[in-house]
Amino acid sequence: MKDLTRRQILLGGSAIVAAGLIPTIPKTPLTPAMKLMQSALADDIARPDYMIRLSSNENPYGPSRVALKAIAENMHLANRYSRNSRALEEVLAGINGVSTDNIVIGTGSSEILNVAGLLGSRTHGSVVCADPTYQTLLRYAENSGAEIIRVPVNESLNTDLDAMRAAVRDDTDLVYLTNPNNPIPSIIEKNALRKFVLEQSKDRLVFVDEAYHEYVDNPDYESMMGLIAEGHKNIIVARTASKIHGLAGLRIGFGFAHPDLAAEMRRIKTGEMHVLAVVAAHASYLDEEFPAFAIRKNKESLQIVEDMCEELDLRYIKSDTNFTFIQTGMQNSVVKEKFEAYGILTGRDFPPLHDTWTRVSMSKPEEMHYFVQVYKQLFST
Ligand SMILES: Cc1ncc(COP(=O)(O)O)c(C=O)c1O
Repeated sequence: MKDLTRRQILLGGSAIVAAGLIPTIPKTPLTPAMKLMQSALADDIARPDYMIRLSSNENPYGPSRVALKAIAENMHLANRYSRNSRALEEVLAGINGVSTDNIVIGTGSSEILNVAGLLGSRTHGSVVCADPTYQTLLRYAENSGAEIIRVPVNESLNTDLDAMRAAVRDDTDLVYLTNPNNPIPSIIEKNALRKFVLEQSKDRLVFVDEAYHEYVDNPDYESMMGLIAEGHKNIIVARTASKIHGLAGLRIGFGFAHPDLAAEMRRIKTGEMHVLAVVAAHASYLDEEFPAFAIRKNKESLQIVEDMCEELDLRYIKSDTNFTFIQTGMQNSVVKEKFEAYGILTGRDFPPLHDTWTRVSMSKPEEMHYFVQVYKQLFST
């Protein structure tokens, strides 16, 4: 049996099969074994024997080794309620330049989004957001009696702050911003954003969802965490351990706000902390190596897909995150179904853009090479 070279592993299935090698990618500390088999649908594409998840913007490498070690060492505490998050809060406070009083821990940042949805619907007024954007907060607010005012993104598919400003009404209790946005993987320009957040938060809550913060490498981007550190009121910044830290299944995320607002959020939240999520996040946030690795790999994967878009002359949104958004020109439901037959899960529908756009999450580079092969096979012959 010939050993695989690193290049063959990176090039993925077809390169391996073409080289006449055994179609198995060996297990490494960071990756599971990847068995390859001939596709039932196309003789020339070697298909992995598992579903490749390009559907939920997860980190394909996580949890990190340090997080796994912390989980293993604390399994015996699973009989205990997890009420001690002090060490984690101190780490988060240190990283973000805020105080522990500013921090609310949620079962994923989804819980923080739900809590804000509740706060934003207390008077049964309105919530203003970009369209399309992430839905969790909006769904919760709508179910709790708020009207959702959706403001279409502009022609470049960027969040349109001027249009959002114009859409705000006297009864608007909350403005929701996702930066970078999702499913559109681009950022909001930092100066315009800061001005908007300061101005709007005088009269209502402003929620800045920064789930993908760690992936951004763009000089026009700035986290709004600084406004929390400066003591501004009515602003919530959300972060999560689900993305760069690869802990999505453990459900832990964070809200940052003025101490009075943070205390109110703690009072109304309904989730409880998971003992293993707390220790895993604590270990993970102390580690710099794994996030740097994940960022590097994410860039590699994005490059593979963006190169394909350039080659096939497909419009796509340059990504500041761990996913991309491609104008395939076809119904997303059709694209999704076709990819599924090849073992690839792509993003769900994102109305109103689902007629021609598809969201594709990044996974490992070798898996993205496979995605490109399948895309070309399906749609560009
Ligand atoms: C913009 C955005 N915010 C929040 C979340 C929720 O993340 P979690 O609840 O896992 O922290 C996601 C998940 O995909 C997201 O894309």
